[in-house]
Amino acid sequence: MIMPMAEPPATIREMNHDDLSMVSDIERRSYEFPWSHGVFRDCLLAGYQNIVLVREKEVAGYGVLSVAAGEAHILNLCVDPELRSRGYGERLLDEMLFRARAASVREVFLEVRPSNELAIALYRKKGFHQVANRPSYYQAHEGREDAAVLSKKLVIED
Ligand SMILES: CC(C)(COP(=O)(O)OP(=O)(O)OC[C@H]1O[C@@H](n2cnc3c(N)ncnc32)[C@H](O)[C@@H]1OP(=O)(O)O)[C@@H](O)C(=O)NCCC(=O)NCCS
Repeated sequence: MIMPMAEPPATIREMNHDDLSMVSDIERRSYEFPWSHGVFRDCLLAGYQNIVLVREKEVAGYGVLSVAAGEAHILNLCVDPELRSRGYGERLLDEMLFRARAASVREVFLEVRPSNELAIALYRKKGFHQVANRPSYYQAHEGREDAAVLSKKLVIED
């Protein structure tokens, strides 16, 4: 009998400057309109909650969360295309929600392309629902694409 290969352990930690080349490489392979290296550098400088999921000493995915005034915004969530459907996206999202709760955030927001069905499936699974539509929000190859604004309310325990 052939035994399936066990997944190597993966851990989540803070993103740092040394991660940015691996992060940018995943970003370029994941999005048609990727963030530049400089945008990620600015996220580190801005003091956002920037996290990476590390597997076999390599970055396999990352998330960027901004927190202010009781609200949080998921600015990026991405997993290496070759390492998807292994639960890493959900783990990164869970970690961002944990951090948002720890910062007493009441509601978490994000924008997503309505065509991005896999991401929307993940967000719905975690309890997000659509609260708005931002017309012509995203760059697209022909014109612009709307953004769906999704949110999830967090229960703050006393
Ligand atoms: C969205 C993304 C982060 C999901 O990462 P992932 O590691 O593949 O997702 P997971 O394995 O953790 O899956 C979690 C859930 O997402 C949904 N999902 C993920 N891949 C899916 C697939 N191929 N088919 C259907 N649903 C899928 C499911 O709800 C899944 O839960 P389930 O396994 O219980 O069915 C990944 O597809 C990605 O990086 N996409 C490109 C970047 C992007 O679009 N980010 C979102 C920007 S708003």
